[in-house]
Amino acid sequence: MSDEERSRSDGGRLIHLNLFMRLYGHHPSAWQRDAASRTDAFAPDWFAGLAQTCERGLFDAVFLADSQQAVYQREDVSTASMFEPLTLLSYIAARTERIGLIATVSSTLHHPVNAARSIASLHLISGGRAGVNLVTSQSDDEARLHGMDALPEHGRRYSRAQEFAELLFALWDSYPADAVLMDKADEVFLDASRLTRLDHDGAEFRIRGGLNIPQTAAGRPVLVQAGASAQGRDLAARYAEAIYGIGSTIEDGRAYYEDIKRRAIGFGRPESAITVLPGIVTIIGDTLEEAQEKKRWLDSLKSVPRQLDTLSGYIGMDCSGWELDDPMPELPPLQEFAGPKGRYVMMQTLSHDDHGRLVTVGEMLSRISAGGGHLTSIGTPSMIADEMATWFEGRAADGFNVNASLLPEGIDEFVDRVVPELQDRGLYRTEYTASTLRGHFAQTTAPELVA
Ligand SMILES: Cc1cc2nc3c(=O)[nH]c(=O)nc-3n(C[C@H](O)[C@H](O)[C@H](O)COP(=O)(O)O)c2cc1C
Repeated sequence: MSDEERSRSDGGRLIHLNLFMRLYGHHPSAWQRDAASRTDAFAPDWFAGLAQTCERGLFDAVFLADSQQAVYQREDVSTASMFEPLTLLSYIAARTERIGLIATVSSTLHHPVNAARSIASLHLISGGRAGVNLVTSQSDDEARLHGMDALPEHGRRYSRAQEFAELLFALWDSYPADAVLMDKADEVFLDASRLTRLDHDGAEFRIRGGLNIPQTAAGRPVLVQAGASAQGRDLAARYAEAIYGIGSTIEDGRAYYEDIKRRAIGFGRPESAITVLPGIVTIIGDTLEEAQEKKRWLDSLKSVPRQLDTLSGYIGMDCSGWELDDPMPELPPLQEFAGPKGRYVMMQTLSHDDHGRLVTVGEMLSRISAGGGHLTSIGTPSMIADEMATWFEGRAADGFNVNASLLPEGIDEFVDRVVPELQDRGLYRTEYTASTLRGHFAQTTAPELVA
């Protein structure tokens, strides 16, 4: 069956896959196993290898998160060593041909002109494969690196993000590709009358002029978003072509999915304009028991004090003296928590069992160790494919941002064993039909410029 026939038989929908590239993998102890090597930490080829595997698996894109500040209090987090995403993705662009390349950029910490230039350059370098995950940043430490005392309050971060997104679009559109004439006879390289000169005086930014980087035939780079709050969801629904979501149960996933699509329609966009990609944490085994054993082994690599330290970071409380058999405390209301809100809500959910009772601290650690609140799929390739199909067909996802617990082997296994299962079910492409990121997301309507 061709992709076209397949998508016809499935109402036009196929599962979209991105890989969340993270050093050693998403399990907090991934770096502690023997196979994890210190030399991988700053090896661009380690990341290029992941992207090549995903390209073999016909993924839409690979994705890099970002945080900028050095880590001083907690020695045990993967953000302790990161590449600047746009630079690393430029390298990966040269090592791949079709796969999309999505970099996280903070509207709180960047200036839109610098960001627009770098992303437009990646778009040119990669032949139309660049995307940007526009976030508003989560930690005051990062703000202090940039001379602020703390992050601006949430509402202001998002009003700045909105202005930032509109400026990205305007800047990317300011130099149309057809403005380059190269008319040698008349000695006209550029038809300057086709360029747009921005004259922007906004609450956050003042910009006169435009980019000197022409747009590609692929149009603008693709905007992606990962906000969880109402403002984050609105930003995505208004401007983004994909959103990274979070949710551990299909009910959460469905509510999130419906909410994003409803908001997009509210902004005058068709619901297909935004691809909803919840995270999926995967641990693959030949049998369910083997996969569960792999999870137990990974959990055991990290000492309990270290696990409590991770929990402290997630809920903003000092958990260092907590006993594993004690029940979790009732977490304070969301309004009292200053950190990332989406994950905090997930922690509130995970701290209760199906009957609404508080779980023990030990159970809580086991619940968050695999994925910090994302859908966690532990089992055989066919079980994982079934779970993905259930979410996809149940309108809780248009696809997934794959958080493999171990990298690189978790993505090798996923591509070699889960992808064929999805293809056998007629839910996944068997070849690329496009060479641009927008083409992969099968975007039919790009968001209109609002400026
Ligand atoms: C898959 C995913 C990746 C994210 N990556 C980043 C990141 O790299 N940097 C960052 O500052 N925030 C990142 N975030 C956090 C979001 O941008 C946002 O701050 C968070 O979801 C809280 O949303 P809210 O501010 O709308 O409440 C990510 C969120 C998700 C779900």
